Amino acid sequence: MANEWWKKSIVYQIYPISFNDTTGNGKGDIQGIIEKLDYLKELGIDVVWLSPVYDSPQADNGYDIRDYRAIFEQYGTMEDMDLLLKELHNRGMKLVMDLVVNHTSDEHQWFIESRSSKENDYRDYYIWKDGKENGDPPTNWGSIFSGSAWEYDEQTEQYYLHLFAKKQPDLNWENPKLREDVYNMMKFWLDKGIDGFRMDVINFISKDQEFKDGEVKPGDKFGDPGPYFVNGPRIHEFLQEMNNEVMSKYDIMTVGEMPGASPENAIEYTDPANHELDMIFTFEHMGLDEKNGDKWNLKPLNLVDLKENFEKWQTSLHGVGWNSLYWNNHDQPRIVSRFGDDEAYREKSAKMLAICLHMMQGTPYIYQGEELGMTNIRLNHLEDYRDIETLNMYKEKSDLGWSHEEIMEAIYAKGRDNARTPMQWSNEKNAGFTNGTPWLQVNSNYETINAEAALADEDSIFYFYQRLIQLRKELDVITTGSFALLMRDDPNVFAYRRVGDGESLIVLCNFSGKEVELAQEVVEEISGASVLITNENKSSATGTLSPYEGTVFKH
Ligand code: NOJ
Repeated sequence: MANEWWKKSIVYQIYPISFNDTTGNGKGDIQGIIEKLDYLKELGIDVVWLSPVYDSPQADNGYDIRDYRAIFEQYGTMEDMDLLLKELHNRGMKLVMDLVVNHTSDEHQWFIESRSSKENDYRDYYIWKDGKENGDPPTNWGSIFSGSAWEYDEQTEQYYLHLFAKKQPDLNWENPKLREDVYNMMKFWLDKGIDGFRMDVINFISKDQEFKDGEVKPGDKFGDPGPYFVNGPRIHEFLQEMNNEVMSKYDIMTVGEMPGASPENAIEYTDPANHELDMIFTFEHMGLDEKNGDKWNLKPLNLVDLKENFEKWQTSLHGVGWNSLYWNNHDQPRIVSRFGDDEAYREKSAKMLAICLHMMQGTPYIYQGEELGMTNIRLNHLEDYRDIETLNMYKEKSDLGWSHEEIMEAIYAKGRDNARTPMQWSNEKNAGFTNGTPWLQVNSNYETINAEAALADEDSIFYFYQRLIQLRKELDVITTGSFALLMRDDPNVFAYRRVGDGESLIVLCNFSGKEVELAQEVVEEISGASVLITNENKSSATGTLSPYEGTVFKH
């Protein structure tokens, strides 16, 4: 709608439990966010995406909602929430809330009613089925958080579907009454003045009604349900209805989290002519360092795959849909530990990765701590981990015969707690995050990696992000220009050209820890161009890139 302000915006994601604690209970809270709004303003961001703060038993840190219209007590009150919104708006920033409507908590009133009897008015708010004749679950589907995706409920002798944890029963979007309730809940928040929604696994909401068994892949115990709910049969109808009932009435932004969406799907979801969403989160670039679609099955990244993947998204959506750009969120490991070097070249590689992403077309998302170059964590004991996905996976992989060491390596590389360690504000106790005991260990490198140190150092990663954000405001080519991949087959260099009205940029990123040569045609192209931004001490073109160098040339 209207002016598409989100095309020029930079979004910052806050994961509330790990952001800033003002009560001393070891968990972040809304007042803690308010305290840090000037920090976000200094960075230059336009929009905050707040992961769930709704009332929840916290089986999945709030992605299991008990009451959509109430705030989780430990995070504060509705008054705190209203104040947060007001303080953001006072500073010229916007607020996007998480919308988790593929499932609720099993403690949501709808589910309590639903499970109470087959005749209850809310029975069809969820997906209930009889077991197979032999008593097995209705299908062989595996849950994304391990085990069967069905849970038997003795009270009514049927199974309910949960694509995630048992405590996250899936909602039945076939039911128009449920849809109407969801739309009313969205309006409740939008009428308060929030500026949009990030929609959790929104391309999972339409399930194939045949409920057939999925294919059992080698090494797996359960069938793959993906084909029966990813971009399911009625998804476009549901999103168009939601748009018509809700989004079309407000000047907001929407971003759909969409595992399994291709560029072709993304165009359907984000082409304004289709009246669905403004943009989606693709998962394709996040799956390039895994084998057989199993995120725990590690594979080194082949840079050529990453380049070609970005090229596909950048060129397919250009002029028809819209990209979101991200390296990190609360579900992904820290990018500097993943595709950079979090030891010898931590600062330099973090800046290079920032350049590589922020010079592309789309709306960039920065996850808390990314602007500090926060790194993954290696905890010695499984008991120190908190994430339900990680803990369930440990059990499942052990049952499948993986060794403890193999599983721990997978957790160190991919576990979600890597991104969830408390925000590192200062070199004081607990990184200045809490006076109490942090809910998850603080990364021991906080004494050097923290916001206070970054703000005191003009060369910091923080100020580098600030500059990239400013450049997006200054140069239209970043928002609107075309994209062309250069040095396609080079295994170390990610290079591309952006061309817009009278401006062009050549972006050069070295993803390796060694010096590399540039192709002759690139050297010719950059000769005489000016350096726009660089993480290297460089003021004019050369024929090489130093380890983890990122430099942008402008004509
Ligand atoms: C995606 C969210 O980002 C993740 O954190 C959550 O566990 C699942 N959806 C289920 O809501």
